[in-house]
Amino acid sequence: APFDLTIRNGRISTATDTFTADIGVRDGVIAALGQGLAPGKRDIDAAGRWVLPGGIDSHCHVEQLSGMGIMCADDFYSATVSAAFGGTTTIIPFAAQHRGNLLPDVVSDYARRAAEKAVIDYGFHLILSDPTEQALQHDLPELIRNGITSFKVFMTYDRLKLDDYQLLDVLEVADREGALVMVHAENNDMIRWVARRLAERGMTAPKYHAVAHTPLAESEATNRAVTLARMMDVPILIVHVAGQEAVRVVHSSQALGLPIHAESCPQYLFLTAQDIDQPGLEGAKFCCSPPPRDPASQEAVWQGLINGTLQLYSSDHAPYRFDASGKLPKGEDTTFKDVANGVPGLEVRMPLLFSEGVLGGRLSIERFVALTATNHARTYGLYPKKGTIAVGADADIAIWNPEREVTIGTAMLHDNVGYTPYEGKTVRGWPEVVISRGRIAVENGELQVARGSGQFIKRGTPEPVLRQRLNGNPDALVRKYFSSASPSAAPSNT
Ligand code: URP
Ligand code: ZN
Ligand code: ZN
Ligand code: ZN
Repeated sequence: APFDLTIRNGRISTATDTFTADIGVRDGVIAALGQGLAPGKRDIDAAGRWVLPGGIDSHCHVEQLSGMGIMCADDFYSATVSAAFGGTTTIIPFAAQHRGNLLPDVVSDYARRAAEKAVIDYGFHLILSDPTEQALQHDLPELIRNGITSFKVFMTYDRLKLDDYQLLDVLEVADREGALVMVHAENNDMIRWVARRLAERGMTAPKYHAVAHTPLAESEATNRAVTLARMMDVPILIVHVAGQEAVRVVHSSQALGLPIHAESCPQYLFLTAQDIDQPGLEGAKFCCSPPPRDPASQEAVWQGLINGTLQLYSSDHAPYRFDASGKLPKGEDTTFKDVANGVPGLEVRMPLLFSEGVLGGRLSIERFVALTATNHARTYGLYPKKGTIAVGADADIAIWNPEREVTIGTAMLHDNVGYTPYEGKTVRGWPEVVISRGRIAVENGELQVARGSGQFIKRGTPEPVLRQRLNGNPDALVRKYFSSASPSAAPSNT
């Protein structure tokens, strides 16, 4: 047979088009798109099904220690299996540096664990918490050349946060070496100040997490990150935008023509702070940072995803069990300050948006594809190998049954978390067949690919960086006075 796999009669969507065609797959790659293609060794009839690019989840935490030192509940096996069952065929989790760790050691440790266990393809972003001269001048440039072309920095969490001076150092290196900086934008002191006073008054229940993480701490830090990026004339990406004020900051910076990119997540569309307000410690299941907010913010995030202010929809899967290993490190005495931050969402990310967004009439199918796959590939240097259905692209494909109704519940999920914040919610539409580099990864509710068969993807230069090289402002302060080709030798204040 000329093809290893032929997918017939499906309704195919990319980020820009929808058409009915057959897909011929050979050697893991889409070899042909057209009508009446020759048979494959395997033929799948996709009539009545929607054939979409496999999802890319560019924000998830896997086998990682949190900022507070708590280990995730999912390893590279359970996380990638769970992702595959939810229609995602590539993940970009974090290789997290903790202060004192050398970056090459951090990355090789994650790379080894992922290579052993992952069932789908993956890349890594770096979490940078210790921007020493060695890291800035040698290690980061080398990692970027090795395909780790984005890194996340934190403005909050005592053990991870960088100060503004350090952020400027990181932005300078990113600009010079061609990487994209992702920013966790929350004002650490505003949160600490409120949290301290809440604690002094005995207000320690999970619901106070959402009080401490005030929307103003998010919008202040977002505005500051935008301002620092503006001074350096470099693109940044604000991750997990939750509050309507932060959406507004991103939107108005884009209206000024600034290269500000932004992401949001299912928890900001489908949960609110009300979900955290529950008897006992139950609300800890919904504690993530930033926290889910009010219905007005939910609506602002929807609008941002619809109108393009927010380009990425990721899970921020940060899996912790509802016990002493994760959410409740001090048992009954756990306060909101102790709870491991984060919610699971790798598997349900796409089905939730497909059901409420596409079938609910809020998003076109093309916008869904852009938000869940194509924009991630473009933003993080995976395009056009990943993130679209086109000749020459990897055959990463999900075949969706738009009629299938599924009630989300812990028992049907494949992660290792033991609860889901979306328990009992019914969605319509499910990815029934999931294909990773031409291999059937999931079919008939069964995993068909082996542990360790996923591949590390060396990423190229992010599109926001390429665009800035063309459009950057030659009169920007840093370009005018400092050649970005010769790093400043001025001593850092740290
Ligand atoms: O609460 C969250 N989001 N935990 C994961 C770490 C992060 O900041 O993304
Ligand atoms: Zn070296
Ligand atoms: Zn974050
Ligand atoms: Zn995260």
